[in-house]
Amino acid sequence: MILIDGKKTSSEIKNEIATRVAEIKSEGGKTPHLAAVLVGNDGASQTYVGAKVKACEEVGFKSTLVRLEETVSEAELLQVVEDINNNPDIDGLIVQLPLPKHISVDKVTNKIRPEKDVDGFTPANVGRMTLNWPAYVAATPYGIVELLKRYNIETSGKHCVVIGRSHIVGSPMSILMARNGYPGNATVTLTHSRTKNLSEITKTADILIVAIGKPEFVTGDMVKPGAVVIDVGIHRIEDSSKKSGFRLIGDVKFDEVAPLASAITPVPGGVGPMTIAALLYNTLQSAEKKVFG
Ligand code: GUN
Repeated sequence: MILIDGKKTSSEIKNEIATRVAEIKSEGGKTPHLAAVLVGNDGASQTYVGAKVKACEEVGFKSTLVRLEETVSEAELLQVVEDINNNPDIDGLIVQLPLPKHISVDKVTNKIRPEKDVDGFTPANVGRMTLNWPAYVAATPYGIVELLKRYNIETSGKHCVVIGRSHIVGSPMSILMARNGYPGNATVTLTHSRTKNLSEITKTADILIVAIGKPEFVTGDMVKPGAVVIDVGIHRIEDSSKKSGFRLIGDVKFDEVAPLASAITPVPGGVGPMTIAALLYNTLQSAEKKVFG
């Protein structure tokens, strides 16, 4: 069984990005610049945005964090996005989700200039990805694609089963795995909460991508021996034996599934660290005008 090491792979990607940034700077080019907008005080969002800002520093990017009160109006937030859209120094813009209930995620997402949408959430980028055009691909699916590539996992002709149809992970993942390219050319089954006989389907998966958001949902009896298993879930559960009082688990029951799998991502240290590397990569692509020209 191969343990797919997202922590190591993401460090390698960050090193590659840092090398390129140093080159750009030495040639007198502009420093890539990511802006993050964080609304309110959600603990997880603060942690994620903090990690993104820290990663920018590590690779030599500039970053700007715009913090807004939970009570900010939709109009005010849309204006902040518009101002960043029009700021020529900023290459990438992310608005951390979730947003407070009084703000429309769709309206805010649609306000982001596709050329700066390094999260790949806008209709323009989702459409471009679907058409197999150059696009910013959302961080989690992009990170998974990169892991499959860097671990030379064969995807052509394989049966790939995706569990979960979210806009951020399951849906784009199914499109990427089916597209004509590598990774891709898989026969894809996208499953979700209404799927019947789920374990009958997962047992036929050569590649199983789990993004359902339920702790240890996938058990050993749902997995074909030799399958490649990618676990997107991350959940905190109480554990008094840990100093922090909790430990992290995924959507896959690792101890049961790992012995069966030919390759598997752990939690933590699998898909999670790759998402930040993907965001940095998209921001570098934007600074170098590689996607929209
Ligand atoms: N919230 C959870 N994941 C993400 C992400 O990838 N991007 C943004 N902007 N918000 C998130």
